[in-house]
Amino acid sequence: MIIWKNIELVEPGEIVGEDVYDPSGFIILIKEGSVLKEGDIYLLKNRGVSILPIYVEEVLTSEDIEPTIDMELYDNLSKDLSNTFEEVKSGELNVKKVVKHSEEIMKKVLEKYNEKILNLIRKDQKPLARHAINTGVISSIIGISLGFDDETLNKLIISAILHDVAHEKPVRDIIEYYDTHPIKATGMLRKHFNMNDDVLLSILHHHERFDGKGYPRNLKGTSIPVFARILSIADAYDTLISKDFPGKAFSPYEAVKFIISNSGKMFDPNIVSKFVQYVGIYPTGTVVELSNGERGIVVKVLSGLIPLVKANGKLLDIVKEKIYIKKVIN
Ligand SMILES: [Fe+2]
Ligand SMILES: [Fe+2]
Repeated sequence: MIIWKNIELVEPGEIVGEDVYDPSGFIILIKEGSVLKEGDIYLLKNRGVSILPIYVEEVLTSEDIEPTIDMELYDNLSKDLSNTFEEVKSGELNVKKVVKHSEEIMKKVLEKYNEKILNLIRKDQKPLARHAINTGVISSIIGISLGFDDETLNKLIISAILHDVAHEKPVRDIIEYYDTHPIKATGMLRKHFNMNDDVLLSILHHHERFDGKGYPRNLKGTSIPVFARILSIADAYDTLISKDFPGKAFSPYEAVKFIISNSGKMFDPNIVSKFVQYVGIYPTGTVVELSNGERGIVVKVLSGLIPLVKANGKLLDIVKEKIYIKKVIN
């Protein structure tokens, strides 16, 4: 995109967006695409140029799109869940409060389910709470896609909220990692709170793999409880896109690719397919280059997995516009 800038505000290193002519209109003073040097700016001023076309890359981030859980609810949940985790450890958990949080997440996801926008907070000072909320959101989306009733959804979200409660700090515990936290969490919850069995079993098995190579019990296929098979996808997706860990996070696009490529290995293929039908191949927040040369960001997924792309302030249904995605920009 090109913006016209007062020459007094132009800085060396900026790129000229269009050819600039001298006031007579016949001589090009500087060509489109030139990287401005101090001397160029000086000369242009001397030739009487007062404004310059400068090329600026449009700022495209998923932060421009409203998150699935709005910030007000997110902040409340994040604050409360951090206390909840402490309560679990000290044996004083108020289960009613967890049910309330689960219902809040469920209500919000149900409200927004048809919009097909999955936009998650990817960095937070309270990373364990952030991961719990996001795993809850993704799990409930999958649960709704599978036709679960409210009571079943609630148990699923509670499992998601509490699945990593035995972690002291966030851990990228998805690939080649073995840990006892599922056993510890189940023990803490069972001993102190007489928690529902479906919840306990899904927490215990959230690191099992569909091919039987997971832990702690090497369960295989559909012998893994269905909640745990859902949780493992939600858990992996959020862990991969999280910016709470050192090193580069996966983009939503790379995370979906990871999940698809592990379908039948780490994950239940039927549940992967429900998840992908919702998030699409190019999930919300994916920055793409279009065949018409524009750059845009995927805002949501239309039916048939077609992404709705925002580019230069316009919303484009790429099928209607007869354009296609040339590449994904990370
Ligand atoms: Fe875990
Ligand atoms: Fe996790």
